[in-house]
Amino acid sequence: MKNYVILISGRGSNMQALIDARLPGACVGVISNRPDAAGLAWAAERGVPTAVIDHKAFPSRDAFDAALAAEIEARGAELVLLAGFMRVLTEPFVRRFEGRLVNIHPSLLPSFPGLHTHEAALQTGVRVHGCTVHFVTPSLDCGPIIVQAAVPVLPGDDADGLAARVLRQEHLVYPQAARGILAGRCRLEADRVVWSDDATPPESALRVPAGG
Ligand code: GAR
Repeated sequence: MKNYVILISGRGSNMQALIDARLPGACVGVISNRPDAAGLAWAAERGVPTAVIDHKAFPSRDAFDAALAAEIEARGAELVLLAGFMRVLTEPFVRRFEGRLVNIHPSLLPSFPGLHTHEAALQTGVRVHGCTVHFVTPSLDCGPIIVQAAVPVLPGDDADGLAARVLRQEHLVYPQAARGILAGRCRLEADRVVWSDDATPPESALRVPAGG
């Protein structure tokens, strides 16, 4: 069984989806950079160990990332799942966990990296929006893509409605991706994601790959 940690900064709905999915691994910690992250209480109530590493207590990004890495390693985690973790990680941190560091982003990358993705989707008039689970590389919201899910942008949508539609998909694809990695069916190989069973989606699928 593999150990994994989940890093959050706030609400933690993706963290909940991951824990509720009963992944083939043990969640050895939910770590937040914000003491007031709502997700911490949810995890603690379910007996998942929690920790806070408050970024405000550190003089630099490097110092914060070093403490974060030490905490992750002390817990024996082999996989690090960023779930609404709103800190930019330094290159040494990313390199240290290369191939074992995964993020979910609320857009179809490489469109709309950064913040306010739903507003940007509405502003540009894209008809299809969605979310992406990807391995993390040193560039922000970049890296080999594991799973994507698409949703339509409908007439009359506002950012909140669109965000809610995307979030429902996030809660499906993140456990799918994490399950694939923990089960050894999905890995990073020479900067590309390889799924061992070559899941081929039906033509109508908006979740790619569809299996898992
Ligand atoms: C999610 O929509 C996630 O994709 C996004 O923050 C939200 C966190 O919600 N992450 C990013 O924007 C990272 N760049 P949650 O705390 O309920 O999971």
